Amino acid sequence: LSDGPLKGKHILVTSGPTHEPIDPVRYIANRSSGAQGTAIAEALTALGAEVTFVTGPATAPRPRGARLIEVETARQMLDAVQAALPAAAAVFCAAVADWHVTNAGSSKIKKDATGTLPTLDFAENPDILATISKGADRPPLVIGFAAETDDVIAHATAKRARKGCDWIVANDVRPETGIMGGTSNQVTLITADGAEPWPLLSKSDTAARLAARIAEHLT
Ligand code: C5P
Repeated sequence: LSDGPLKGKHILVTSGPTHEPIDPVRYIANRSSGAQGTAIAEALTALGAEVTFVTGPATAPRPRGARLIEVETARQMLDAVQAALPAAAAVFCAAVADWHVTNAGSSKIKKDATGTLPTLDFAENPDILATISKGADRPPLVIGFAAETDDVIAHATAKRARKGCDWIVANDVRPETGIMGGTSNQVTLITADGAEPWPLLSKSDTAARLAARIAEHLT
């Protein structure tokens, strides 16, 4: 363990996509790689934090030095996050699916000989960030992410208020930015004091800068 400014502080990080089953062999997913979440966990560990990393099925490597909890669905992620509290801070990087399938098959759904198509029914998933931000065990510093394609700052500022978190790390994920699935990131940090655009940085430099801000805030 490193002897940095976050020594002894427990920090929770969620990362990756979630998978929402359709049947035992099929699922609904999204394109999150988990790369930014892994980088943030490693940057916090480097400053001495004891990191619990709750991840969906991400393609990015798992962070070194963190306590690892692997989940599949949004509902499992919420349970794992609640079980991991209390924490001094929580960083919600995961790209959580908005819905799950309520009529998922318990065995593989077969193609129907008459051509009848299956119908999927959906229910909303819990919003993990909002639930924890408004919950009894709320960490003193709660940070959410906002991936937006337009009016980034306005949407992220509204999201900060709606979810009840302290900071939002907003980024522009229009395909032409190359951020999604890429190695660099350009974010704007939204706090109670306003919006602070950061330069285009590697995901690991973005993570180091965020970890330094968290350390500054907690110490
Ligand atoms: O509402 P939206 O998905 O854009 O919000 C993004 C932020 O909320 C991210 O920090 C994400 O991890 C978190 N989130 C969550 N649970 C959900 C949906 C989003 O924790 N069900």
